[in-house]
Amino acid sequence: MSDAKNANGAQAIRAAGLVKRYQNGQITALDGLDLEVRAGEFVAVCGPSGCGKSTLLNLIAGIDRPDAGELAVFGKRAATLTEVETDALRSGVIGLVFQLHNLLPQLTAAENVQVAMMPGERTAAQRAARAEELLTRVGLAHRMNALPPTLSGGERQRVAVARALANSPKLLLADEPTGALDSKTGGQLFELLGEIQRELGMTLLVVTHDEHIAARAGRVVRILDGKVC
Ligand SMILES: Nc1ncnc2c1ncn2[C@@H]1O[C@H](COP(=O)(O)OP(=O)(O)OP(=O)(O)O)[C@@H](O)[C@H]1O
Ligand SMILES: [Mg+2]
Repeated sequence: MSDAKNANGAQAIRAAGLVKRYQNGQITALDGLDLEVRAGEFVAVCGPSGCGKSTLLNLIAGIDRPDAGELAVFGKRAATLTEVETDALRSGVIGLVFQLHNLLPQLTAAENVQVAMMPGERTAAQRAARAEELLTRVGLAHRMNALPPTLSGGERQRVAVARALANSPKLLLADEPTGALDSKTGGQLFELLGEIQRELGMTLLVVTHDEHIAARAGRVVRILDGKVC
């Protein structure tokens, strides 16, 4: 990594022998997965449907717990975190973008970004200013007061990116953020994520099944049958 902010080489994610099973152990979603991601890396996670990509992201995000193996996010071990710490990790350290943006349809783009900062230490005016700054960064200064149903798919995903960045996460996790977009719009969103990642020096992990899009990341990790291959 040439970026000076990332030169310390600290570890953002370390997974060792990670196992996750569903349905009383009948389904093995992750089967001893090993993965190391350094702080400041831009990693694309690729692999066929059902290979365990979303499961991995959910574990890293603290949405779900591993059944076996070790997982540390910025040195904090998932198995030892209490619920409160996991929430703190999720809201302060990790930003999330999903395939379907999950924006609140009755709130404007700006309000959707502001909501992500609540509760928090910022005043309403500070939240509004931060939302404006972020929406401007993702190219939506002119659509800040638009309701999500009136935005295009790509615009909605850009609002979702702005929302995920609201609390200045050290790690941004995105699960198929381009999945609902055509390849051109998807490519543009991926470029934007990469630019922001470089500017902010954050760690970015993006799941995509699109190999062409994945090739734009700093590194591609391929998963097959719950393992890195
Ligand atoms: N809540 C659940 N209950 C039962 N099985 C599940 C659950 N979530 C995932 N699985 C199973 O675990 C495996 C991995 O699923 P996962 O969602 O991680 O795949 P994926 O790589 O994200 O696939 P896709 O590219 O289709 O999103 C699949 O066999 C899936 O059916
Ligand atoms: Mg998935």
